Amino acid sequence: MTTTPLETSDAQPPGGRATGSLLARAAAGEQVAHPPVWFMRQAGRSLPEYRKLRQGTSMLQSCRTPDLVTEITLQPVRRHGVDAAIFFSDIVVPLVAVGLDIEIVAGTGPVVAHPVRTAADVAALRRLEEADVADIALSVRQLVAELGDVPLIGFAGAPYTLASYLIEGGPSKEHARTKALMYSEPAVWHALLGRLAEISATFLRVQIEAGASAIQLFDSWVGGLSAADYAEYVLPHSQAVFAELAGHRIPKIHFGVGTGELLDLMRSAGASVVGVDWRIPLDVAARRIGGATAVQGNLDPAVLLADWPVIERAVRRIVEEGRRAPGHIFNLGHGVLPDTDPDVLTRVVELVHSL
Ligand code: CP3
Repeated sequence: MTTTPLETSDAQPPGGRATGSLLARAAAGEQVAHPPVWFMRQAGRSLPEYRKLRQGTSMLQSCRTPDLVTEITLQPVRRHGVDAAIFFSDIVVPLVAVGLDIEIVAGTGPVVAHPVRTAADVAALRRLEEADVADIALSVRQLVAELGDVPLIGFAGAPYTLASYLIEGGPSKEHARTKALMYSEPAVWHALLGRLAEISATFLRVQIEAGASAIQLFDSWVGGLSAADYAEYVLPHSQAVFAELAGHRIPKIHFGVGTGELLDLMRSAGASVVGVDWRIPLDVAARRIGGATAVQGNLDPAVLLADWPVIERAVRRIVEEGRRAPGHIFNLGHGVLPDTDPDVLTRVVELVHSL
């Protein structure tokens, strides 16, 4: 008689309510009938019911109101029948929770009143305590109870992307100030990213312990770096975030835009699923990350503005390319554009489920 060692995929994830979900199985590379599908920014301005609910409440206030967070997170699940919910929040929520003066301006994004640029600014940036985000834990618990078998994906911004907002003071195309600080003041840079890694890890841990059954770490803007600079200035800090969560055996997705040349480094940060944008095919991405890790993506969100035959062809191609990867979670290559017809999103879900 032989005894088989405990399979890691059988281990009960702490707080994970949706263990056997399609999302978890695809992330683990198991055979599934069709890929699970969800959309980055599935909650938000593409939905009239969202726009109605948000009226009169600021974005950040909405993120801190558990009943609103719960309802907004559930809206796309009900409407589209997606295979996962993504927690309605924002990457700057934990930064506001440690006392930074940040506003989210509609149509622009996060604006930071006092940018973080000196050693003294970094020293003043305190750790995130669980008590700072008690409302987030409450929102997650409430949501998980409502979602039943549908997994909830928790998320945080990765250290580089958070640093880019803090240093620039708001959204930026070139991230010139961010890179200038990175190259000219490496000690200040590493101190800042080290602290942001702690903040992100705590924010994710709170969501996992409250019942999130997967997480996504967004490094949206890191694609502007070379692989060598990523390895030196960013990787150790993103690694620190995942290392903090190593005890939680749940899908850990890591995503950025324009990261074709960084995908394997991002995998090595500790991700179990690598998010891919539309610039490279999923099967190529899967080979670049070593052929043993699942991928997520990668429909260009702008394709959803085209006629249905164009959309259908692109969806079918992506599902085919995904079949040549060790596991595939269907998604867009970045967030849903506000002008997207929500009925088209529903139709994409139905199509992916039929393939
Ligand atoms: O449905 C979901 O995906 C969950 C909710 C979510 C939001 N922000 C809600 C939101 C998620 C996962 C985020 C993460 C986020 N926030 C990222 C990483 C993901 C990405 O898109 O790359 C980034 C870079 C931010 C920063 C940020 N916050 C931006 C760029 C914006 C958009 C500005 C605008 O108005 O165009 C925000 C605001 C924001 N976050 C909105 C939503 C629904 C729009 C606010 C509104 O409805 O007025």
